[in-house]
Amino acid sequence: MPFHVRQFDKADFDGLWRIDQACFDPQLAYSRPELAFYMRRPGSFTLVAESAQGILGFIVAEAQRKTGHIITIDVVAEARREGVGSALLRAAEDRLLRAGAALVALETPVNNEAAIRFYKQKGYFVEKTVPGYYSGQLDALVMTKELARPVAG
Ligand SMILES: CC(C)(COP(=O)(O)OP(=O)(O)OC[C@H]1O[C@@H](n2cnc3c(N)ncnc32)[C@H](O)[C@@H]1OP(=O)(O)O)[C@@H](O)C(=O)NCCC(=O)NCCS
Repeated sequence: MPFHVRQFDKADFDGLWRIDQACFDPQLAYSRPELAFYMRRPGSFTLVAESAQGILGFIVAEAQRKTGHIITIDVVAEARREGVGSALLRAAEDRLLRAGAALVALETPVNNEAAIRFYKQKGYFVEKTVPGYYSGQLDALVMTKELARPVAG
């Protein structure tokens, strides 16, 4: 399914929130105000993957000096394993690199096997476990990846 990655537009917000609701258990999914908060934070940006059929997924990330942070990446169930997540993550990493980040960090639930495999395949390593990170109930893995700078000359 051909798709392209583009910058978020305000009109996308409801659709993205619905995708987030469908992607995560109620204890993990963002409320509308939470999602809006993360998308509006200084240094934060949102990229959307879109096909002729509509939005397939999105990523929210933020640049904080030398460290980039993936806030969330969500791909609709029908479009998974087709490279959408890879394209979104690559586009976000490129943008973080341009913003001066040398490292990207993220948190993922310890029981989210698909996400852990996905991130490992993209070169992320498990840094540590944070007990009770999600509402005091569920542990998170913190995963990081060093961003490669193009070799000069
Ligand atoms: C994790 C997620 C973003 C991956 O998106 P995707 O579009 O399916 O990922 P891609 O198709 O680009 O996958 C790239 C590679 O990651 C690995 N991968 C992705 N999903 C996987 C799964 N369910 N099981 C095992 N490996 C997986 C594979 O190596 C895959 O390559 P392959 O399909 O050629 O084997 C998607 O499953 C998702 O949105 N899940 C729900 C939300 C979520 O958990 N987000 C992460 C929050 S921390």
